[in-house]
This record gives sequence, structure tokens and C-alpha cells, in this order.
Amino acid sequence: MPKPPANPYDLSRLDLDDILGTINEEVRARFGEGEVADYIPALADVPKDRFGMALVLLDGTVHEVGDSRERFSIQSVSKVHTLTMALEAVGDELWKRVDREPSGDPFNSLIQLELEHGIPRNPFMNAGALVCTDVILSHYDDAEASLLEFMRARAGDPDIAMDPELAGSERESGHRNVAMANFLRSFDNLNNDVDEVLDLYFLQCSLGMHCVDLARSVQYLADDGRCGPSGERVTSAENATRINAMMMTAGTYDAAGDFAFYVGLPAKSGVSGGIVAVVPNVMGLCVWYPGLDEKGNSKLGKYALHRFSRMTDLAVF
Ligand code: DON
Repeated sequence: MPKPPANPYDLSRLDLDDILGTINEEVRARFGEGEVADYIPALADVPKDRFGMALVLLDGTVHEVGDSRERFSIQSVSKVHTLTMALEAVGDELWKRVDREPSGDPFNSLIQLELEHGIPRNPFMNAGALVCTDVILSHYDDAEASLLEFMRARAGDPDIAMDPELAGSERESGHRNVAMANFLRSFDNLNNDVDEVLDLYFLQCSLGMHCVDLARSVQYLADDGRCGPSGERVTSAENATRINAMMMTAGTYDAAGDFAFYVGLPAKSGVSGGIVAVVPNVMGLCVWYPGLDEKGNSKLGKYALHRFSRMTDLAVF
């Protein structure tokens, strides 16, 4: 009788620290690749000699390598968390205001919004994220404090903070986002004052977190909506499944197909070079390298996730 194939979810077959060490060496040999997101003043001078990677298993065990405790502004990675908060607030009503299809267009595109009458394609494009932020403003008493509290609780890190200076500088140069918010308002798809929505949106992008924080902060998506060892319910198992599906199809902008091809895990990226990923039922992950590829995803972060998924055989496909 041929031996049955090894269970890919049995982690005892893997030396995770050794795998992270190998990836770290490979990435460091390629430092300098990619371009930083210079349309955000605070990101323009970030050096491309930082790489961190962390993974958090469902029992809370952490494996990490490199600059995994250096904080960076999480930018669009925050869209995963604000989507979760918006779903908790209004449930499926959200889908009347935001669609859940991949876009094939850049994250800050305005074209689709006009053609599709103010309904953003998905919650991970900037327009969809602005709607989620609007929902949070409408449904949480102190929206800014609630968002901060949500992130600190998910990451188990009371030191997480927003950076008003960074948010302010992006606000001054964020003309596309300003246009987008006004455009959404013209379709009656923002209920709050446009400036208030933008202020909170830029603040959520400015949240300073590191790889271990971020890996832990998506652990609930690996654990059917429960927050790791404490078992606290963050969202329903159904919502966790759906958020993972949207991360797979739209979490890495118009490169989601390429991510499925090379990585095969639900993932969400941000223009500061962070990418969170989820291995359902196994772990939350985060990689960080500031140099981006032409689609705005961390170039070596994507490479690191590719290597990880192949070395561990943990891609969902
Ligand atoms: O709004 C922006 O352009 C940035 N604060 C965040 C963009 C980002 O990370 C990618 N977006 N999906």
C-alpha cells in the first residue's frame, strides 16, 4: 500500500525557525529592490534595508526573524480591521454600499466608482475602505478610540498608537483620497462629514505596528473569528471565512491573481511594505520590506511569502 501523503497542517514536520532563517538570508541578499511609496511624504525616505517576518500559531506561539519588532505605519493593512469593525456594526447591510468583487484596477482608481454609481468594487480599495470608515464613525461612540482599542486588543499590544503628524502630512498630499471621498458623498454613499471620514481614514493608515503585532492581529481570521488563546469572539466564523475570501481575491490590489499564483494565501498589503497573510486554521503571518513592486505590493515581502508557502506546503491550493 502506498503511504498516504503527509498532513500539510501537521506543523511538527516543519522547522519553522529554520525556514524563517533561510528566507531572511535570501531576502537580505536582495535588499534595495523595489521603490518606496514616495507619494506619501513620510514614506519617501524609508531605507530599503529592513525585513521582518513573524507568524503566530493558534496557541499563541510566535516565530519571528529580522526586524520583526520595528514599527511601521500599517497603511492599507488596516482595511482588514476596519472591514471587520464595519461588519460587526451593520452586518450584511454593508454589502448594499460596497461590492465584493476583485477590481483589476489600482487601489486608488476613481474610474470604476463613476461607472458603478458610487458603489466601490470591494472594501480593500480606498473607496471601499472609506465607506467602512464612514460606518465606523456612524456606529461607534468614539470612533477613533474604538479603532485604537480594537487594534490593541487584537495585537495584545497596549503601545500601538496613531501618528497624527504622519496622518496630517498624508492628508495634505492625499488629493485622490479627498476627491474619492467627495465623489462617494455625491452618490450619497458617505453619511458623515467628508473631512471627518478622511481624518479617521488617514489616522487608521498611520497606526504604528510591527510584524508580530500584525501577525497576531489577523489570528482571528485563522481561527474562525476567535481571538487566539483567549477564545474571545471577534467576528462570526462566517465573516472570517468571507474576509479571507476577499483578501484572496482583492487584498493585494490588481495583483491578487499573481498572489494566488505565487503565494496562495489570503493576504492584505499596504504601501509601507507590510503584508498580512492567513493560513486558515493554522496561523496569522506578517512580512515587511519597504521596497514596492509596480503594483504597490512589497516586492521582497511577496517573495518571502512565496518561499514560505512553497517551503511549508501551506498554500490553500
Ligand atoms: O490612502 C492611501 O493611499 C494610503 N494611506 C494607503 C494605501 C495603501 O496602503 C494601499 N491601498 N489599498
